[in-house]
Amino acid sequence: MASALFSPITLRGLTLPNRVVVSPMCQYNSDEGSATDWHLMHLGSFSLGAAALVMTEMTNVNPAGRITARCAGMYSDQNEAAMKRVIDFCKQYGIAKHGIQLAHAGRKGSTQTPAQGGKPLRPEEGGWRTEAPSALPFAPDWPVPEALTKQEIKKLVEQWVSAAKRAERIGYDLIEMHGGHGYLIHQFLSPISNQRTDEYGGSLENRMRFPLEAFAAVRTVWPADKPMGIRVSATDWMDGGWTPEETVVFARELKKLGCDYMDVSSGGLDPRQKILLAASYQVPFAEKVRKEAGIPTMSVGLITEPKQAEDIIASGKADMIAIARGAMWNPRWAWHAAEVLGADTAYAPKMMACHPKLRPQAFPDRLQPA
Ligand SMILES: Cc1cc2nc3c(=O)[nH]c(=O)nc-3n(C[C@H](O)[C@H](O)[C@H](O)COP(=O)(O)O)c2cc1C
Repeated sequence: MASALFSPITLRGLTLPNRVVVSPMCQYNSDEGSATDWHLMHLGSFSLGAAALVMTEMTNVNPAGRITARCAGMYSDQNEAAMKRVIDFCKQYGIAKHGIQLAHAGRKGSTQTPAQGGKPLRPEEGGWRTEAPSALPFAPDWPVPEALTKQEIKKLVEQWVSAAKRAERIGYDLIEMHGGHGYLIHQFLSPISNQRTDEYGGSLENRMRFPLEAFAAVRTVWPADKPMGIRVSATDWMDGGWTPEETVVFARELKKLGCDYMDVSSGGLDPRQKILLAASYQVPFAEKVRKEAGIPTMSVGLITEPKQAEDIIASGKADMIAIARGAMWNPRWAWHAAEVLGADTAYAPKMMACHPKLRPQAFPDRLQPA
């Protein structure tokens, strides 16, 4: 039977030849928000065809929105030029399509890199003022963020729009808004981090207001033939937090605004979360959103095996799967999965010599007599 994982999917004017996506992964290797040679290697390697779509890491719409001083940004001409060089390079040699995850870390910004310990930066270490829906820190020993004024919220929407215009000039095929993992959009959605008393807090409708305004504004400037989705955390894994049921309502509202898919992750809002980790543990959330909101979903998290991924797509639980650590471990994951599942998948022309079916022709002199 034909593989579901290696069947094409069309989102607006973009047709992906298979359902495998390299998940966005922060690299902490940017200078003043600008991509470096590291990104040529990181994204370049994935662009050779192992996955149909390669996501660029969380790329922040303003400097304060960065998690660390080494995080990627899309707020200056330098940021745009540096990332254009990388994506041009990937497209010159590779065959994958490229998406960018636009983001803002909110109260989780201004920290050391994970390699340095991931702790909040003190002012003398270059720490900066973080911004959030409410003046509530991520954890008791973290700096208190400043609650955004309504004027600042408006300005932020403009910054999302400006970053999207830069992404279009760079030549990205898709935009994903980062609405999960406890970052700014998620901070607005969750009643734990959003305790505003104006129209941006309180009821579900109010907590969704900024995320929906930002999404709608970006969708308006992003070309109509290019898809745009969102990553969310479907649950805070906490009593009194954001829930899968609210995620479904959010997905329905986004769909009305032209959202093409929801990438369904979980957690990250509060260190007190109790996550039940297991293989495919986030798949039920993607399935719920897909069935109840009628929107395509991407599932992510501890999906490592070809048959596991095939079953998720074939059983209609999600439309795409994203792989992060598994792709770092094996950047050719999808080529190998295609072999396991008896499917065909594309290789960049310069890589064809390694295709199992073509190896004997490419190197006849290396054939050993039986
Ligand atoms: C090094 C690293 C960096 C990550 N950076 C991001 C990011 O920029 N944006 C995001 O949404 N998730 C990020 N994640 C989460 C992954 O995209 C993914 O959701 C998570 O690792 C679970 O998938 P996996 O089990 O296939 O690794 C990161 C994960 C890793 C390991």
